[in-house]
Amino acid sequence: MRGKFITFEGGEGSGKSTQARLLAEHLRALGRTVIETREPGGSPFAERVRAFILDPTTPPHAPLSEALLFSAARADHVAGTIRPALAAGTWVVCDRFTDSTRVYQGAAGGLSSDVLDELERIVVGPTRPDLTFLLDLDPASGLGRAQRRAVATGAPTDAYEARDLAYHERLRRGFLDLARGSPGRLVVVDAGAAVHVIANQIRTHLAERLGAP
Ligand SMILES: Nc1ncnc2c1ncn2[C@@H]1O[C@H](COP(=O)(O)OP(=O)(O)OP(=O)(O)O)[C@@H](O)[C@H]1O
Ligand SMILES: [Mg+2]
Repeated sequence: MRGKFITFEGGEGSGKSTQARLLAEHLRALGRTVIETREPGGSPFAERVRAFILDPTTPPHAPLSEALLFSAARADHVAGTIRPALAAGTWVVCDRFTDSTRVYQGAAGGLSSDVLDELERIVVGPTRPDLTFLLDLDPASGLGRAQRRAVATGAPTDAYEARDLAYHERLRRGFLDLARGSPGRLVVVDAGAAVHVIANQIRTHLAERLGAP
């Protein structure tokens, strides 16, 4: 049987990576085979594209150029990692996916939804997420978390984190608009709660939407 495809979306520092890891651990404890992956990235080629896009010294470029780069990375990730895993019955938990492109390059970047629809048709085809968790958080809190994490780990700030608060507010609204448009797939979670509270809510939603894992 095909595995399930679950994605995590939301702004910077909203807890996507934390919750993706906890959900994958939970599913493994229930006996599922699970891979954790991320975008941009998730395959050797796509990770190289990730490094280039997120590098703050990469020269400014148009949202279309960016969407095409993300699509090049995504095509490799979907064909080489996600599709084979799902076909083998493995569950795939992915940290960001097409909704991030819709919001960063679309809602906030100004790229038309026709272009994004077409890219998604070509690159993703039928390999759409079964369920997506949107971690909704006030951007100031998210950026604060990301900055504290940067100080703690020594990791540099990426190109998106460095943008101003108004940009991050547009991202938040973009994600919430997407969720309103796809209530069957996108579940909005209050990401301001404690880590374990959010993890429990995600498990409950998962069981309600997809049945007992
Ligand atoms: N619910 C929470 N409450 C407080 N802190 C949290 C919560 N969830 C995660 N954090 C902390 O906030 C920071 C950002 O979390 P995480 O890396 O999971 O977010 P992210 O959405 O993946 O961020 P990015 O967009 O930068 O990839 C981490 O240091 C993490 O430990
Ligand atoms: Mg992350």
